[in-house]
Amino acid sequence: MLIKTNRSKLLRGDDIPGSEITPEQAYINRRKFLGRSATIASGAALGLTSAGAYAGLQPDDDITPESIVTSYNNFYEFGTGKSDPVQYAHELTTDPWTVKVSGEAKKTGEFAFEDIVKGITPEERIYRFRCVEAWSMVVPWDGLPLKAVLEQFEPTGDAKYVEFKTLVRPDEMRGQRGFFSNIDWPYVEGLRMDEAYHPLSIMVVGIYGKDLPNQNGAPWRLIVPWKYGFKSVKSIVSIRFTKRQPRNTWQLLAPHEYGFFANVNPEVAHPRWSQASERRLPSSLFNPNRRPTLPFNGYADEVASLYDGMDLARYY
Ligand code: MTE
Repeated sequence: MLIKTNRSKLLRGDDIPGSEITPEQAYINRRKFLGRSATIASGAALGLTSAGAYAGLQPDDDITPESIVTSYNNFYEFGTGKSDPVQYAHELTTDPWTVKVSGEAKKTGEFAFEDIVKGITPEERIYRFRCVEAWSMVVPWDGLPLKAVLEQFEPTGDAKYVEFKTLVRPDEMRGQRGFFSNIDWPYVEGLRMDEAYHPLSIMVVGIYGKDLPNQNGAPWRLIVPWKYGFKSVKSIVSIRFTKRQPRNTWQLLAPHEYGFFANVNPEVAHPRWSQASERRLPSSLFNPNRRPTLPFNGYADEVASLYDGMDLARYY
């Protein structure tokens, strides 16, 4: 079994995390005060892979403080409150971690997490993150291009979709015990293969230059920045390539409220609230920090063509 430090070394791709080169606050402030072009330069100065790293960011997209990103969470396996995950996710053990790969692919079976991720270099991607509940953040993720992860398993021509499932372990995930929620575990999500292969789609293994905390989905979770946050399934133990569109958890729970595509769309309201604007965290009563929501969460130039000819009000 690998110890934690070995794992982070393996995932980081080098021995020195960005956070050690530049103190975190300085790195956030630099981005905040110098604006976007300086942001790219500082990324380069940190030796980070920059391709696509800053796509979609607006000049006023300050990085959200780490303390908020790691303590205001949705992870119903630990409870439905925003602070339940940070309080209880330490009860989860993530080492060893095994991933089952199945369905329409040549290489299927049980794989050790380390074996899947080795050889793929993590890239820092600073993305806007928009929850369907109308709050948002800007997060520096360390992610593996999802395409590189999936291609290893050689999906066949019949693989039109890919489905991901979260761990079910009620002993360590207290939200899965008893009657806390009506979710039929495991939490399931899916993407069309062309969405999964898009260069912006990543499997996240770290944030702020550190290992991914349990409450954010350790040891790895999906991030697809143009979609609502519920697509970004956490603590993944199953990858299945399918011919048919998988049924995702929130769509199963409330099909008239949540769809399969879940592309961020200010023009399609949730039945119970508008999606036209969002509350950028941190926000308060006196500084609500509200801003307009952008189509595809600001990534329209990169991804709108994936949905050419589709009625986005129907396929929400
Ligand atoms: N994945 C699992 N397994 N369980 C969950 O409850 N919540 C989703 C998504 N992934 C969720 C999940 C929702 S609704 C959101 S907004 C994001 O995780 C929140 O990610 P964060 O806590 O890292 O901000």
